[in-house]
Amino acid sequence: MNRPVELISAAAIAGRVLELGREIEARVPEGPLTVVGVLRGAFVFMADLVRTMDRPITCDFLGVRSYGDATVSSGVVEITSDLGTAISGRQVLLIEDIVDTGLTLKYLQDLLYARNPEGLMTCALLSKPSRRKIDVKVDFLGFEVPDEFVVGYGLDAGQLYRNLPFIGVFKL
Ligand code: IMP
Ligand code: MG
Repeated sequence: MNRPVELISAAAIAGRVLELGREIEARVPEGPLTVVGVLRGAFVFMADLVRTMDRPITCDFLGVRSYGDATVSSGVVEITSDLGTAISGRQVLLIEDIVDTGLTLKYLQDLLYARNPEGLMTCALLSKPSRRKIDVKVDFLGFEVPDEFVVGYGLDAGQLYRNLPFIGVFKL
């Protein structure tokens, strides 16, 4: 199996995560905050990000699975595990690993908005802007990446590589 080629080092990720934490602290309105991670890809990023934040937060998770061909996003996602708590009246920060076409994120934002949060903001670790099919709002972004398949720091290829401490490009 090919070892992914490093694209973003663990040190660069750690530095950016700290900056994101400060941006979030500055811009997310005060009030009860629920951080919602999209499983499984966001779990590593979310674990690091919440530890940069110094306010009372609760953590919750959405388990999702894309329908159909895993390599082509349809934007219709199946919720395999719903939130454990209500978000009505709360500030919500949605955490995604990567925004590709944007269809998945748009679907999840619409889903959460329908539950009447006080506010909803989105933080994504990575974005591939050249692949976007739909205009979707990302309030906080870690890094833009080229149109290549990336793995590591939570992101997988066939469920592997999530434990890599860096972001790498996966070549078949
Ligand atoms: P979208 O609906 O096309 O934006 O797809 C977003 C989802 O596809 C992400 O949450 C990831 O799970 C997955 N994905 C897209 N690009 C990559 C990649 O380069 N590596 C790993 N997963 C990816
Ligand atoms: Mg994902």
